[in-house]
Amino acid sequence: MKELTVNLGEYSYSVLIGNGFWKDIPKIVESDFPDSKIFIVTDENVNEIYGNEFESCFSNPCKRIVLRQGEGTKSFKSYEQLCDNLLSFGIKRNDLLVAFGGGVIGDLVGFVSATILRGVKFVQIPTTLLAQTDSSIGGKTGINTKFGKNLVGAFNQPQKVFIDTDFLKTLNNRIFSDGMAEVIKYGCIYSENLFQKLNKLNEVNIFSEINEIIYECCDIKRHVVETDEKEAGLRKILNFGHTFGHVIEKAFEYERYTHGESVAGGMVAISLLGEKYNLTEKGTTARIINLLNKFNLPIKFEKISKQTAEKIIQNDKKATSNSIDFIFINQIGKAFVKPLDISKIINDLDDMNYFS
Ligand SMILES: NC(=O)c1ccc[n+]([C@@H]2O[C@H](COP(=O)([O-])OP(=O)(O)OC[C@H]3O[C@@H](n4cnc5c(N)ncnc54)[C@H](O)[C@@H]3O)[C@@H](O)[C@H]2O)c1
Repeated sequence: MKELTVNLGEYSYSVLIGNGFWKDIPKIVESDFPDSKIFIVTDENVNEIYGNEFESCFSNPCKRIVLRQGEGTKSFKSYEQLCDNLLSFGIKRNDLLVAFGGGVIGDLVGFVSATILRGVKFVQIPTTLLAQTDSSIGGKTGINTKFGKNLVGAFNQPQKVFIDTDFLKTLNNRIFSDGMAEVIKYGCIYSENLFQKLNKLNEVNIFSEINEIIYECCDIKRHVVETDEKEAGLRKILNFGHTFGHVIEKAFEYERYTHGESVAGGMVAISLLGEKYNLTEKGTTARIINLLNKFNLPIKFEKISKQTAEKIIQNDKKATSNSIDFIFINQIGKAFVKPLDISKIINDLDDMNYFS
């Protein structure tokens, strides 16, 4: 097992990465938090596969709360329901929430942890590839509103993150590929080495290297978050592909394409624009498309109208009046931030036949 420390002063924490140790996590948690009552929060799918066995590994009785699976659970309604459940069980300030699931559970539980009783500790046990490489580290927590995704939330770092890659064995292929979009993103923005390593793999043989790959992604995220916890500068590069990704997700009301699939489309769009503006080395988009194809990520999407795209970008929480910080890459492994006029970008993509 490998360990990383995210150094954020008094909010520092460790990330344990390995496989075959998930049944030992309860004992570690109990020894780390001997005076806390444990509240496990999970979703119905994770609960079905792992819930009973996981809970049985705790020595002391704990409470398990099972929520519906899916993005719909990152809502005011589930937030209220979870808070009510925890309060009815008599949660106290020194108790511990265990977020056991994918990014949806991690984001919601992290936000409840930031706010219930004005703050209760939580640990993350991410069970999807996306959550193991991205959402469980860095402390961004929150829920969606009718105006868009993640619009209500808090920066709230976990006490510890436990990553057991054995959980990935029960993911369906689409959800695994979904997480691969974020893994490929790390290669694009930060590590040509990682990008090249991924190029030599496919969705079957990647499992022989998965621990190392997840470690590399977490280490990149660690570095970025340590440098810029609240996203004033460097952390923005993690949004590579996310502005157009968000357009794709939102245009189809989060139902047609997953987050990772949408980010895949977003990375292709911004890289194409980068090549058009001579900001990105020629041929980069072709390399990204080739890698996305290997991991079954789509690069073609049902067309969206120009007006819809523009409206969604203007409502993006990162937009200021008419411009938004776009993340470009000069070449694979090197990203930078460039604020650009939203209408210009939309018109240029329209010229490239991107919209209906
Ligand atoms: N906080 C952050 O920094 C950050 C970063 C990226 C994404 N996110 C958020 O993460 C969310 C997406 O996370 P996700 O892709 O993990 O989605 P998810 O939590 O909905 O999980 C995807 C599906 O996989 C199932 N699942 C989870 N673990 C499983 C396992 N081991 N075996 C079988 N099935 C399993 C879930 O029940 C669900 O159906 C989005 O809401 C996104 O906004 C947050």
